[in-house]
Amino acid sequence: MTKTLGFGLLGAGLVAPFHAKSIQASTGGQLAAVCDVDRERAAKLADEYGARVYDSLDAMLADASIDVVNVITPNHLHHDAVLACARTGKHVIVEKPPAMSLAETDSMIAACRDAGVKLAVTVQCRVRRAIQEMKKAIDSGRFGKLLHADAYMKWFRSSEYYHSDPWRSSRQSGAGVTVQHAFHYIDLLSYLVGPAARVEAKMTNLAHPSVQLEDTLLAFIEYANGAQGVVEASTALWPGTDVRIEINGTDGTAIMIGEKMTTWQFRQEQPEDASIRQIGNEAQRTAAGGPADFGFADHQFVIQDVIDAIGQNRDVCIGADSVRPTVELVLAMYQSAAHGRAVELPVRDDPSIWQ
Ligand SMILES: NC(=O)c1ccc[n+]([C@@H]2O[C@H](COP(=O)([O-])OP(=O)(O)OC[C@H]3O[C@@H](n4cnc5c(N)ncnc54)[C@H](O)[C@@H]3O)[C@@H](O)[C@H]2O)c1
Repeated sequence: MTKTLGFGLLGAGLVAPFHAKSIQASTGGQLAAVCDVDRERAAKLADEYGARVYDSLDAMLADASIDVVNVITPNHLHHDAVLACARTGKHVIVEKPPAMSLAETDSMIAACRDAGVKLAVTVQCRVRRAIQEMKKAIDSGRFGKLLHADAYMKWFRSSEYYHSDPWRSSRQSGAGVTVQHAFHYIDLLSYLVGPAARVEAKMTNLAHPSVQLEDTLLAFIEYANGAQGVVEASTALWPGTDVRIEINGTDGTAIMIGEKMTTWQFRQEQPEDASIRQIGNEAQRTAAGGPADFGFADHQFVIQDVIDAIGQNRDVCIGADSVRPTVELVLAMYQSAAHGRAVELPVRDDPSIWQ
């Protein structure tokens, strides 16, 4: 009989219930513990699932019933936690962005590889059916020569959101719209069409004067394969509308809005195209207007994949190495905006972007 894997959540904040529900809905996983420096917060979530409560990672790591740790603390804390998990032989699922620099990302990847544990990243938008169909069509050459790949994230977050916890308004914690919110959609472009070769970015604060962060990003990307694209991402645009991902090639165009495939048109129609045009649920929310306004199906896929990867002794679908190019592109955007010039990739770390 296959072993039921014990999961421990590190962090019991806004996104933790999405992980807890996903584990509960999984086949082969069980929420065993919740850890938070705020013990009351950990206890509140743990009680719902009959899980144990910890207020220190070391204590949770000493719990032999924990096989996998979900690192869902603020962004700047991911690296040290992942290394501690690897040292104690725990598999890891880390929230996005996996880390704040390339050096940190690389050291996390190396530590988990050396310890023989899985390291998955919850860039869960990749698993949406519309994105998977785009990926298949790109890989099979259906688009012809790729010309454009764009992401438009016109969201709204209130000032209260930015002040709901100190890290949400801290540049050093990775709270700007680019690395915090747009990371998912920059990741989709990188996953579908990347890697990027050159980027030019401008960052502004349009509607949140009480925080020293960009709430808006405008970026122009040149991909290594010759395509180009833009990213428009904001949390300043009330009431917030669904993300749009657009791919254009010489032979086809596909557009996803939210999780719906709204345009799927190719010079050569295929029998499956009619059903691909139906992908997406009108009612499914994708966080445009509020930070917890989305479903947990995509998280559930990532968590189930980790359970299955451990059982089958295979790689996870969304390994940290596959997210490294997204980290690099995001860092390049900050470097471009900070220094007022286009940036060629690959880039090196430039800690001054977080000052
Ligand atoms: N994948 C997604 O769609 C998605 C959505 C929202 C947030 N996130 C990511 O999830 C992570 C957490 O975001 P959130 O919105 O839940 O933040 P949050 O502030 O609501 O929750 C973070 C929790 O971590 C706890 N914490 C802080 N330091 C700790 C430590 N050293 N040990 C244990 N607990 C500690 C805090 O007390 C808090 O309860 C971030 O990396 C964020 O980018 C991902």
